[in-house]
Amino acid sequence: MYRNIFDSHAHYDDEQFDTDRAELLGSFKEKGISGVVCCGVDIPTSEFAVELSRKYDFVYSAVGFHPLDNDEYREGDLEKIKALAADNKCVAIGEIGLDYHYEKESREIQLELLEKQIILANELDMPVIIHDRESHEDTLKLLKKHTPKGVVHCFSGSVEMAKEILKIGMYIGLGGAVTFKNAVKPCEVAKFVPDDRLLIETDAPYMTPVPFRGKRCDSLHIPYTAEKIAELRGVTAQEILDLTDKNARELFKISKQY
Ligand code: NI
Repeated sequence: MYRNIFDSHAHYDDEQFDTDRAELLGSFKEKGISGVVCCGVDIPTSEFAVELSRKYDFVYSAVGFHPLDNDEYREGDLEKIKALAADNKCVAIGEIGLDYHYEKESREIQLELLEKQIILANELDMPVIIHDRESHEDTLKLLKKHTPKGVVHCFSGSVEMAKEILKIGMYIGLGGAVTFKNAVKPCEVAKFVPDDRLLIETDAPYMTPVPFRGKRCDSLHIPYTAEKIAELRGVTAQEILDLTDKNARELFKISKQY
């Protein structure tokens, strides 16, 4: 059985978990899960993440506005994010970023809200959790400008972009996409990222790794992603889990509890 499974990115507020959330999360520790960062995407989900982190010692929260939820943003919400971030188990500002695939809000609005949240994270000395979908150039520009601590989650860029992210001092988050048949870039990146900058994640309930694609994803699926990354790097899956657990604790300033 694997241990030290640290899921650096999940959304347990999702309604897909409404039927069995307590049962599922209640089983995590005995199945080797060492930590989960539950990410908000707006105010209610950020509040949910903070609440969840009070119920489970291995759950931590991240709070912020996701680019596909920018339309929910109201005057004064940044103050609410700041207040939630003061919780002692809130470890990051996220999930924040840019999404030019769906482009639900204009790029101008997305850029403005992302920049405000990066500035807030820097002010609070907290890492950011960045979503970047088909917006590599603008994401990189803002990250270079403000050089926050943090992770680009579900990294979909090239090795060249990964190098730029590493130069800033940030981490690369890899998830189920490395197991997909058509995954070329994520696999190249999985081979390239140095040991001390790699994080592993699910983005549950999304991005379910092979062989469960199409089904709901949860943190127990992490080993499938770890096995693929391990195969690409010529190490064991447990080694990948050990180092990504260590890296997550370093980035999110979480000490080992057990
Ligand atoms: Ni996400």
